[in-house]
Amino acid sequence: MKMIEAVIFDMDGVLTETSKQHYLAWKQLAEDLGFEITDKINEDLKGISRLESLDIVLRAGNMVDKFTDCEKNQLADRKNLIYQSLIKEFTKENLSVGALELLIALKNSNIKIALASVSKNAQFLLEAMEIRDYFDVVVDPSEVKNGKPAPDIFLMAAQKLGVEPRNCVGIEDAYAGVEAIKSAGMKPIGIGNKEILNNCDIVYKNLGEINTNFIISM
Ligand code: BG6
Ligand code: MG
Repeated sequence: MKMIEAVIFDMDGVLTETSKQHYLAWKQLAEDLGFEITDKINEDLKGISRLESLDIVLRAGNMVDKFTDCEKNQLADRKNLIYQSLIKEFTKENLSVGALELLIALKNSNIKIALASVSKNAQFLLEAMEIRDYFDVVVDPSEVKNGKPAPDIFLMAAQKLGVEPRNCVGIEDAYAGVEAIKSAGMKPIGIGNKEILNNCDIVYKNLGEINTNFIISM
């Protein structure tokens, strides 16, 4: 009998709408370096690690070869300081629509819950939005070798939960994140725009549209 035993969440763009703050921080960094980025680049940055995102941003300004690795680390740190200043006042009011209700419903159905975010700020957001206690496992992204779209972070979450990947559902807003869930052998649910997440059969506008019984039956 197939049975979903765990749900593995992404953070940015799923549990809270921080893709906006990540984008604004990159935009600010680009302006400081003397070029503009437009929100078209935003989809490419979703789910992608800080340093890989920096390369995407620098490429947009034809600056990718201008900096040494050490300078790139400094630029990534600068972006992170801007990002942290944009999320420092976050509270449970910043949870996405339906996030808390879904976490409660999953707990009540004895479904295990994990976080598979590549963001090093995700732990802060869990505490700030007062949802840390719902999570059985929070993967530390610095322990993961390959970022999304590689399956590593989802596989590590499943392993730490002690659940077979095929009995896990992953929830993602990023194209790369959906790819990661699928290559982990898990079932994906997309959050956002169906046309952008065209690699995912099940896409909802927000977590409030997801029914726990539906998840269990997937
Ligand atoms: C992902 C975001 O969740 O985390 C990316 O979608 C971001 O946009 C990545 O670059 C890394 O986040 P951080 O907070 O470690 O820079
Ligand atoms: Mg995301």
